[in-house]
Amino acid sequence: MLHRHPLRHAALLIPIAILAAVSSAQKADSIHYDEHTRIFRMDAADVTYAFGVNNVEELEPVYWGRAVAANDPLPAPHTMPEASSNDSAPTVTPKEYAGWGGGLYPEPALKVTFPDGNRDLVLHYVSHKINGDELIITVKDIERAVFVDLHYSIDPATGIIGRWAVIENKTSTPIMIEAAAAATWNLPRDTDYSLRYLTGRWAGEWQLQKQAILPGETVLQSKRGSTSHQNNPWFAIERGEHPDEESGDVWFGALAWSGSWRISVEQDQLQQIRVTGGFNPFDFGYKLAPGKQLETPKFFGGYSHEGIGEASRILHRFELTKVLPQGPMPKPRPVIYNSWEATEFHVDEPGQSALAEKAASIGVERFIMDDGWFGQRKDDHAGLGDWYVNKEKFPNGLKPLIDKVHSLNMDFGLWVEPEMVNPDSDLYRKHPDWVLNFPGRPRTEGRNQLVLNLARKDVRDYVYNFLDDLLSHNQIAFLKWDYNRNWSEPGWPAVAPDDQKEVYVEYTRNLYGILAELRAKHPGVEIESCASGGGRVDLGILRYTDEVWPSDNTDAFDRLRIQDGFTYAYTPEVMMAWVTDSPGWTNNRTTSVAYRFLSSMQGSLGVGANLNKWGPEDFATAKQLIEAYKGIRETVQHGSLYRLVSPRDGSETSVTESVSSDKKQAALFTFLHSSTMNYPYPRVFLRGLDPKTTYAVTSIYGRLSKDTPTSASGSYWMSHGVDVELKGDFQTAAFRFDAK
Ligand code: DGJ
Repeated sequence: MLHRHPLRHAALLIPIAILAAVSSAQKADSIHYDEHTRIFRMDAADVTYAFGVNNVEELEPVYWGRAVAANDPLPAPHTMPEASSNDSAPTVTPKEYAGWGGGLYPEPALKVTFPDGNRDLVLHYVSHKINGDELIITVKDIERAVFVDLHYSIDPATGIIGRWAVIENKTSTPIMIEAAAAATWNLPRDTDYSLRYLTGRWAGEWQLQKQAILPGETVLQSKRGSTSHQNNPWFAIERGEHPDEESGDVWFGALAWSGSWRISVEQDQLQQIRVTGGFNPFDFGYKLAPGKQLETPKFFGGYSHEGIGEASRILHRFELTKVLPQGPMPKPRPVIYNSWEATEFHVDEPGQSALAEKAASIGVERFIMDDGWFGQRKDDHAGLGDWYVNKEKFPNGLKPLIDKVHSLNMDFGLWVEPEMVNPDSDLYRKHPDWVLNFPGRPRTEGRNQLVLNLARKDVRDYVYNFLDDLLSHNQIAFLKWDYNRNWSEPGWPAVAPDDQKEVYVEYTRNLYGILAELRAKHPGVEIESCASGGGRVDLGILRYTDEVWPSDNTDAFDRLRIQDGFTYAYTPEVMMAWVTDSPGWTNNRTTSVAYRFLSSMQGSLGVGANLNKWGPEDFATAKQLIEAYKGIRETVQHGSLYRLVSPRDGSETSVTESVSSDKKQAALFTFLHSSTMNYPYPRVFLRGLDPKTTYAVTSIYGRLSKDTPTSASGSYWMSHGVDVELKGDFQTAAFRFDAK
């Protein structure tokens, strides 16, 4: 019989070098190990996270929540008793990282099949190391040499914990990994939880959902090969019957992976909440040869006791300082112009030059030419894969346009879609085997294109080389990296059938590798992640890209809801928002230039309208509002966001406020959908100001009630509030508050 309960005092087995590391790390602030209770404890910001080695040598969660005192007793973990003959101790005892084995019914973190048919895997503690803010715990199967290093990091400023696993096969035969999560998060046992998550579709991303967590399992996932519009790898769990934006306990997490992913949220038979996330086990199979390792994506988790508003702000700070490539404090995003909605595929040198002149005249800082400049691209039927400049449209290459843009004091950005190919292209005619496919089966097209198999080295090299070449020979400051379809027939016929499913890992790794290499070689170049709008936004891609395109839907009213949902998980810094034409293609809705600007000014501002159609008044308003935006952009992009009134659920109004990190400035945006019954606009109460500082208020656009003082204390603006003069349909006003 297998020995599932090795020595209780396994600490005695920890090698001396590791014990030395432990005692030196005990001096470190954030991570401690208590040899008596065998508890690991991590503390940072206002958060404590603790788990320990239990009586059967498994890692069992102890606590995650608001910081407790350093000397508070945390009881040593102990397996729960069998709940019934149907619910044995191993399945009811919560676990940090469970192998599928030993009668486990909730989602396992790791599931493997051995060549002899054994599929039982039970992971026991072996040893640990603490290196500053990182803890690595090694666990191993009770019998076979399958080791897993469980990594934990804690961010001192936000208390956000990063977790990931490295699985190593030290047996002498390959093993097949069928499921590999980064982590399981366990919440305090309770039944009063609700889950928030983000769903959507093309042109309708970032819809915030809420549902009670009941017994059973809710699965958030993408099986599409990339992050997806339909579900985003973020969750938040609120406790209590009426949690609100600024109060209550909230646990949240985000998975840093841009391939197929899954997060399962379970309430088990003893009402324990377990959240397990990592690679999507659907169609997954990673053959791990002897001596090889598989590293999972990172799963970040945080906690706030000040509601979901603060949870978002914590996550925003973490993204700005610890995730984005230009962290700890990225450069504010420039105001951009993008040609897509103006010219679609019909780009040429004179047309783009004319738009560039107009864009420069209103204060745009970066001019981006979108799709259409390469190969035989006239529409979406041809050209993807052939990354040479189209001679009919640009007879002298890109240089004259780029020089023109520079002469107008803007930098130049270019659209690419590197992972795709049209069957009507030289590349596909030459390399039909480069796409994801199952031989002999139809190749399903989406927007007349197929997906190149980036897991292949030759494809990876091709993609890297053409981009490197483009950036080396042209003065390009920015790439808009697009990705316009999901996977189908994800075969990789060039490798053995047993190895083909590795495409789910290798593709995404190669994508990250290309981005990292390009950034290293061209450090001045910034990159946007776009995927038919917001189809690839996650903490994985954000390590290599500076901004994202949240949605192709640029309707200023729809955008209020889209942007509201987006900010639950991601910082406004990366949230590109363009002012486009009215009536817009999405809803045929007419809104004023100012309304469209103020909607976009809540994120990183861009203009995507056909400026050839604008009149002098439009240019004047645009110029004034772009100037005003530059005066508040640091606050909007790097400050603290307060979602004062939500645009969701048919709300007639919506209000956001951003407060700069030093609390010296705030920017307030107010929107009215439609006034009814002669009601005045509800009073707006600011948040996050310094109560004792005096702030002067000035209008960016629109009016406050005439009784409003020109300056008052932070306390006044927060407690007394302000009355905004708004009436009509699709009305808006914005104000800034500056410390005197
Ligand atoms: C989809 C993107 O989301 C759009 O902004 C635009 O770049 C088009 N692709 C171009 O084909």
